[in-house]
Amino acid sequence: MATLPPTLSSRKRDWIPYAKIALWIALLAPAFILLDRILLLGQFSGGNFVDDPVELIQHWTGNTALILLLLGLAVTPMRRLLGWNWMIRFRRLFGLFAFFYATMHVVSWFVFDHQLALGPIFKDVLERNWILVGMMSWLLLIPLAVTSTVGWIRRLGGKKWNRLHQLVYPIAILGVLHFLWQTKLLERDPVLYTVALVILLAVRRWIRRK
Ligand code: HEM
Repeated sequence: MATLPPTLSSRKRDWIPYAKIALWIALLAPAFILLDRILLLGQFSGGNFVDDPVELIQHWTGNTALILLLLGLAVTPMRRLLGWNWMIRFRRLFGLFAFFYATMHVVSWFVFDHQLALGPIFKDVLERNWILVGMMSWLLLIPLAVTSTVGWIRRLGGKKWNRLHQLVYPIAILGVLHFLWQTKLLERDPVLYTVALVILLAVRRWIRRK
């Protein structure tokens, strides 16, 4: 039986599965680098071994989670402003990996800072505002990660699902606030994240108005 020639749009999207594989590799790379620097004596990163692995884990996973959250937020502006509609195919991966690194970040705090002792964990959350804010950000990420599948989109319906996933905005705001709050002086990185977030929120508002 003769097969129909692929349409222009289907041919145009042939590269997407390959791009997805490349993105998986890129998104797993920070975890691999961390593993290498801590367990493999920096064999794959030029002998870049660390003295304080816990500090490195918290720094590395916290920053990676925040960057991925912001990249996820940048997808809609890119689609609307540049017409890069294909980017929607990658948004879910940014979100899932943001959750993965945020969970590594939180688990490292549970294990290394508190040895999984619930009493001190609750005490810390209630006593330090920036920890409370981080906790809120992580807890809000959980329903988004759980409902990120096609099955959940069907179950909830597009409208409800979209409304739930608008939570990503407060989540990013809380994540940036968590970082800003813990630094005594205004340091470069949290300020950069704040500027990026403000720009993304402003663009979103502008697009909505239009
Ligand atoms: C239960 C929730 C959380 C807890 C308990 C927590 C705890 C911590 C701790 C202990 C640090 C290290 C502070 C220091 O250097 O002394 C930290 C840093 C940080 N956290 Fe969290 N965090 C939480 C959630 C999050 C989430 C959800 C994000 C991202 C969305 C995040 C992003 C960051 C960032 C970017 C840093 C700064 C890392 C650096 O450059 O030093 N945290 N957090």
